[in-house]
Amino acid sequence: MEGGEGRDPVRRKGIILAGGSGTRLHPATRGISKQLLPIYDKPMIYYPLCVLMQAGVHEILVISTPRDTPRFEELLRDGSEWGLNIQYAVQPSPGGVAQAYLVGEEFLSGSPSMLALGDNVFFGQGFPEVLQASCALEYGATIFAHCVDDPERYGIVEFDDVGKVIGIEEKPNQPRSHYAVTGLYFYDGRATELVRSLKPGPRGELEITDLNCLYLKDGSLEAEILDHSFTWLDVGTHDSLLLASSFVEDFQKKRGVKIACPEEVAWRMGLIDDAQLERLTQPLLSNGYGHYLRDLLTKG
Ligand code: DAU
Repeated sequence: MEGGEGRDPVRRKGIILAGGSGTRLHPATRGISKQLLPIYDKPMIYYPLCVLMQAGVHEILVISTPRDTPRFEELLRDGSEWGLNIQYAVQPSPGGVAQAYLVGEEFLSGSPSMLALGDNVFFGQGFPEVLQASCALEYGATIFAHCVDDPERYGIVEFDDVGKVIGIEEKPNQPRSHYAVTGLYFYDGRATELVRSLKPGPRGELEITDLNCLYLKDGSLEAEILDHSFTWLDVGTHDSLLLASSFVEDFQKKRGVKIACPEEVAWRMGLIDDAQLERLTQPLLSNGYGHYLRDLLTKG
């Protein structure tokens, strides 16, 4: 169902941050990484992975914990069966979202990037086009804001009367708006260098909000609002995990199309051909996921 044309003209590289301690989901995550848990019928990491694919980003670094990185490798391998190049790096301990830019320095080697948090689910009509437009910008940073009821839980962006960003705060006690910064970020090639100048914030982590504030100060930060027709879920609790699964189940059953099916996105974007989709379908034919892929080939 998802896809669309478009390769990233600036050869942006992607990072999925899929580590962290996952303690908010204990005991469910004592033996397995949160981002490997299923959201309805597929592992959580498929959702941000498909967002990167839809943006046209095909060279991707997955960053996780020393324990879990081999499990992501087992799941996603080198990405070639989906027309991707997936690499892996270990974050020794959870030093903050912005630390992804230090862990990923060698992989990025100064390229523009797109960072997706491994526990964020996005869904909305026209999203691939929005992503591809942000991807094409060579200079500055783009973040995406979504209106929430509980702004004290997020990075919060404040706009002036004409929609210009005037401030961003991480988990403010007295939020100045209800616009949360979602876990999807586009940065130019300066990101690693800028992260190197950051100091850990009050929770002892290198905060992505502090990186965004540097771009804001520099005058090169754009914030796009994802409106109410758009679904954004930060899957950090048992309730939000259940909510995300219900949302995906409901949407897929009603519409008969899947959200975040990498085989389909790869096929629709021309990263793999019919023969490769057929090869990927064969081992899955004992279940509904495989039948869905088979139907793509036979019914389109
Ligand atoms: O989800 C959006 C929010 O994500 C933003 O609004 C905030 O500005 C941003 O700081 C971040 O806040 P969270 O408190 O939700 O981040 P959290 O610590 O839960 O980490 C987000 C994901 O990144 C999660 O899947 C775990 C992973 N992670 C996190 C840290 C701190 C890592 O892999 N390594 C880390 O060091």
